[in-house]
Amino acid sequence: MAVLDISPLRYENDKLMILDQTKLPGEEVFEEMTCAEDVWDAIYKLKVRGAPAIGVAAAYGLYISVRDYEGDMDGFLKYVKEKGDYLCSARPTAVNLEWAIKRMTAKLTSQLDDASSEERSDATPVEVGDATLGERSETVCGACSNADSAKNADATTYGLTVLDAKQVLEDEAKLIEKEDIAACLAMGEYGLKLLKPGMGILTHCNAGTIATAKYGTCLAPIHLGQERGYNFKVFADETRPLLQGARLTAWELNKAGVDVTLICDNMASQVMKNGWVDAIVVGCDRMAANGDGANKIGTSGVAILAKEYGIPFYMFVPTSTIDMNTPTGDDIHIELRDGNEIREMWYEKPMAPDGIKTYNPAFDVTPAEYITAVVTEKGIVYPPYTENLKEVFK
Ligand code: MRU
Repeated sequence: MAVLDISPLRYENDKLMILDQTKLPGEEVFEEMTCAEDVWDAIYKLKVRGAPAIGVAAAYGLYISVRDYEGDMDGFLKYVKEKGDYLCSARPTAVNLEWAIKRMTAKLTSQLDDASSEERSDATPVEVGDATLGERSETVCGACSNADSAKNADATTYGLTVLDAKQVLEDEAKLIEKEDIAACLAMGEYGLKLLKPGMGILTHCNAGTIATAKYGTCLAPIHLGQERGYNFKVFADETRPLLQGARLTAWELNKAGVDVTLICDNMASQVMKNGWVDAIVVGCDRMAANGDGANKIGTSGVAILAKEYGIPFYMFVPTSTIDMNTPTGDDIHIELRDGNEIREMWYEKPMAPDGIKTYNPAFDVTPAEYITAVVTEKGIVYPPYTENLKEVFK
């Protein structure tokens, strides 16, 4: 299945390449990321987008931002924090961004703690450092001697060198990517249990293979179903204003051979009224502890319509997107974007009067009461979400 081989980024031989999704569906172009600024810009401009994909890009982004650091461990730890905070500032709503950065730094801290306690339990670490430094200072130049001195002092104080610490970050980024792929596959299998062959399915935005490390969240069951002959009929909302549905979901599903029909966002009600939709599947950018879920602007309207028409509404939420520290949807920071995305983007000429006021929130919150079930990689969660989401983390 060709589409399942598509992922939004490639990391090989220390090189991070990001598929520029702003160029889809016209061009499939990968761009190399060489520093923190490149990654920040790629996230901010939605070259890489979709909550899990942003998390994976940020994890690799943190590693490539600090891999050329030269200096001691104290300086390195400050540098990691600075770059991590910077990357986190690119977009506020998708929790996977801060989740990935926190996970990377937490891994580093725990490895340092483990290594330094092992080091402390070994015999006479200071003497080892002193002896080594004393020996070398006679035979090597001052600069090398200082670098070695910092390295040995680090190894003594922290149990790891800066080089080791960089390796910890690279390994953790790879693990985050691998785990996201596994989570998406698991969500695909759970999602398929909720769907039947031949169903009409409506989706909003793009929570597909290019919004994750691979396979997608809510599009994973559609890809798996396609492989297994389910013959779903998918309706993709175009998803104004950035057209993730038209440009990305329609492209991705079409490429996979899925029967997909593109509709404008304001046609969803009519399509449901026609009886063409048996289930709605969407992704999520941040789910609060009570089950309120922020997703692409327009999602809550689809959920309200679904309730009116008696259609089940499923939100696909990997545990990396569940934020138990955010009590309710009201506490989620919703990103506001440039009004030009509404006024003129995609048009040959501006489609609104010069200087007209705009309101352009990138996400909205679907209240938990509209969500029939939450599909995670650990299983399907039903209401009451305040109690049942906690179970997922046990
Ligand atoms: O602004 P975007 O394109 O990053 O928004 C993406 C969405 O809202 C997705 O539905 C969500 O991130 C889930 S992706 C698996």
